[in-house]
Amino acid sequence: MNGIDLVEMDQSSLEKVLVLVHKFTGITMGVGKKTLIQGRLRPRIRKLGLSSYEQYLDYLNTHKNEIQEFVNLVTTNETSFFRTQRVWDYFTKNFLPDWAAANPKKTLKIWSGAASSGEEIYTIGICCEEHRSKNIGFNYQITGTDISSEVLTTADIGEYSGRSIENFKTTKRLLFDKYMDPVETAFRVRADIRLKIKFGIHNLFQIPLERKSYDIIFLRNVLIYFEANDQQKVLLNISKDLVTNGILIIGESESLNSLNTPFKYKLPLVYEKVEEDFG
Ligand SMILES: C[S@@+](CC[C@H](N)C(=O)[O-])C[C@H]1O[C@@H](n2cnc3c(N)ncnc32)[C@H](O)[C@@H]1O
Repeated sequence: MNGIDLVEMDQSSLEKVLVLVHKFTGITMGVGKKTLIQGRLRPRIRKLGLSSYEQYLDYLNTHKNEIQEFVNLVTTNETSFFRTQRVWDYFTKNFLPDWAAANPKKTLKIWSGAASSGEEIYTIGICCEEHRSKNIGFNYQITGTDISSEVLTTADIGEYSGRSIENFKTTKRLLFDKYMDPVETAFRVRADIRLKIKFGIHNLFQIPLERKSYDIIFLRNVLIYFEANDQQKVLLNISKDLVTNGILIIGESESLNSLNTPFKYKLPLVYEKVEEDFG
C-alpha cells in the first residue's frame, strides 16, 4: 500500500469530495476544510486497504453502502447536555407551562432534527419529566433524528461517560443524580425517559412521505453548516411538520433574520411558525 498519496489530497480530489459532501448532506464546506476532510477520511481509506483519495472516490461511487460511512465521517456532531442555558430557561419556564395550560389532555410532540448523540434529546426529556412531576396528566413524546447513523447508535443506548457528562454532573448535580443511573463506568439516562423517545435516521433535505404535526422543533447548530439557500429549503421543509404557531428553536450562532421563511422572531433563538401556506 502506498500511504504517500494519503498525506496530501490534491485539488481535484478535494473539489470532488466537497461536491459529494454537499450532495449527500447539504453541508457546504470550502477548500479551507482540506485538513479536516483529510483527517476524517484517511483512517477509513486505510481501513479499506485503498491507497489514494482518488481510489476512495471510485470506491464511494461503486459501493452504495459506503455513502453512510462517508456521511458519518464528514458530519460534525459536537453536542452537550443543557447546551445554551437560555434555551432551557425558555423551555421550562415559558414554553412548557404555557403549552400545557393551552392544551390540557393533549400529548406534547417534540422533534429534534439534528439530534447527534442524544444529549439534547435527553435534556428535553429531563425538562419534560421535571414538568410532569409537578403537573399530573402532562404527557410528551420526543423524536430524535440525524443524518449520521453512528451518533444515533450512541443516542439510542443513552449511556454517557467522561467529558460528555462532566459539566452536567458538576453544574446540575441534583438533576444528574435523579435522571442518570450509574452503569459500570458510565451513566445511563433513566429508562422512563428513554421510553418516551424514538430515534431515526433522516436527512433534513428529504421530504417525508407522511407529514407530522410537532408542537416544537429543536433545530440547533445544524443550519450553520448550510448556505442561505439551503437553510431556506430546510426551514420550509421542516415548517410543514410543525403546527401553526408551533415553536422552532435554533442554535446561538444561527439566525433566520435575512431568510425568507414561514417563521417569525419571538425571542433570541426562538421563532414561531406564522404562515401556513408558505412556498
Ligand atoms: C453540531 S451537531 C448539533 C447537535 C445538537 N442539535 C446540538 O445543538 O447540540 C450537528 C448535527 O447535525 C447533523 N446533520 C448535518 N447535516 C444534516 C442533515 N442534512 N440532516 C440531518 N442532520 C444533519 C450532524 O450529523 C450532527 O449530528
